[in-house]
Amino acid sequence: MNPIDFSTEDGWDDEGSFVSIADPVQTLPGPTSAPASIRVSVAVVESDPPTRDALLRQLGEGVTPFSSIEELAGRLTGAVPVVVVLGPSCAANSELGISERLIEAHPNLAAILVVDELTTTLLQQALRVGVRDVLTLGGDPDQLVAAVGRVAQTLEPAPRWNSSPNSPADEGVGSDPGMNGKVITVFSTKGGAGKSVISTNLAISLAQRSGQPVCLVDADLQFGDVAVMLKLTPHHTIVDAIGSLDRLDAALLSSLLVTHEPSGLKVLPAPLEPAFADQVGASEMVEIVECLRSFCGYVVVDTPAYFNDLVLGLVEVSDNVVMVAGMDIPNIKNVKIGLQTLRLLNTPMEKLMLVLNRSNSKVKLDIGEVERTLGVKADSLIPSDVLVPQSVNKGVPVVLHAPKSPVARSIQQLAELFIPSPAAAKRRR
Ligand SMILES: Nc1ncnc2c1ncn2[C@@H]1O[C@H](COP(=O)(O)OP(=O)(O)O)[C@@H](O)[C@H]1O
Ligand SMILES: [Mg+2]
Repeated sequence: MNPIDFSTEDGWDDEGSFVSIADPVQTLPGPTSAPASIRVSVAVVESDPPTRDALLRQLGEGVTPFSSIEELAGRLTGAVPVVVVLGPSCAANSELGISERLIEAHPNLAAILVVDELTTTLLQQALRVGVRDVLTLGGDPDQLVAAVGRVAQTLEPAPRWNSSPNSPADEGVGSDPGMNGKVITVFSTKGGAGKSVISTNLAISLAQRSGQPVCLVDADLQFGDVAVMLKLTPHHTIVDAIGSLDRLDAALLSSLLVTHEPSGLKVLPAPLEPAFADQVGASEMVEIVECLRSFCGYVVVDTPAYFNDLVLGLVEVSDNVVMVAGMDIPNIKNVKIGLQTLRLLNTPMEKLMLVLNRSNSKVKLDIGEVERTLGVKADSLIPSDVLVPQSVNKGVPVVLHAPKSPVARSIQQLAELFIPSPAAAKRRR
């Protein structure tokens, strides 16, 4: 399946003058892991006709030309994500101002600026108004196509599954075999070990890096803190997803997610009342996660501090289980029991990743000793830092609150282990 499907419909409020599907689809680089099929409309805005034609030639068929940003603005329907390539005539201050308002008004629109000559000032100005990338006109045409592809991947996919009501893709959960995102369950057999801190920061780091939709599910149904840690006011929770299970598809589930605006992370919060927790069974939870992975590149799941059917179901469908251990004897004892339980349940040990949280705590426990006791090497060491509780109290995860701090960097490195890249291939396990 093509990673990007330049849409021929829905993007423009016009009389059908939008040309047929573009070939650049085939050449656009998608993420190496299971690309999403994203319908994207691509527009070129340039007032100078020869330059506009040159840009159109670089991008191939299926791209709609506009001579001004106002003309484009008047034709946007909002139904399909749009990547706008702004030509050099849009680099003027006044045009950048109009672009800024357009970008702000259309969350599903992303702009790339192509300029005659790139200066630092222009780059800064462009990035400040929300342009995603700046390239030069005389540059390699493949770079422009690649940039459009990259930016398109970050846009919310148009709900393809809704495009023809009776298509097989509509038949229910997990129905888009194109995505099959990675499910990462963050677990610990000890409360307070740092599961919620790690899952929220890990999910945000993945959202920042992967270019694919990322969802965080709060499966700590009674005491979920994800919404608080991200300062979200959920309108819907997992209970609504369960309530709609008989007709749940990606489009419906997607509409129940709340977006963490600073990072773009999608969140499925825990029930607002602990009493609702009973309504969520293990098989329902698995169904929801399977549906999420059909349109998200990564699904990170925060869990309660004990094994129950729900956690076991999640462990089974997860690609990775991140086991979080604190640096004290009760933590290590409980995590050891947890690991033994997982082994008894025939959980493939390749799935397991050990994270030692507060690894620098001066508690007279040595990392090597902990690893020997647990029989597993740590994949990630997260230092203890007062920035963590501070960021929790602010509702701004530490990877956003203090992205350059050692604790944020350690979580960013953990996220990179999940992203297919040469660096990530060098797993420490
Ligand atoms: N690396 C760390 N450094 C300092 N404090 C931490 C760290 N990790 C977690 N904490 C603190 O520990 C508390 C419990 O963490 P939390 O993620 O809620 O645990 P869990 O979800 O496993 O119960 C939080 O208030 C958080 O501020
Ligand atoms: Mg928690």
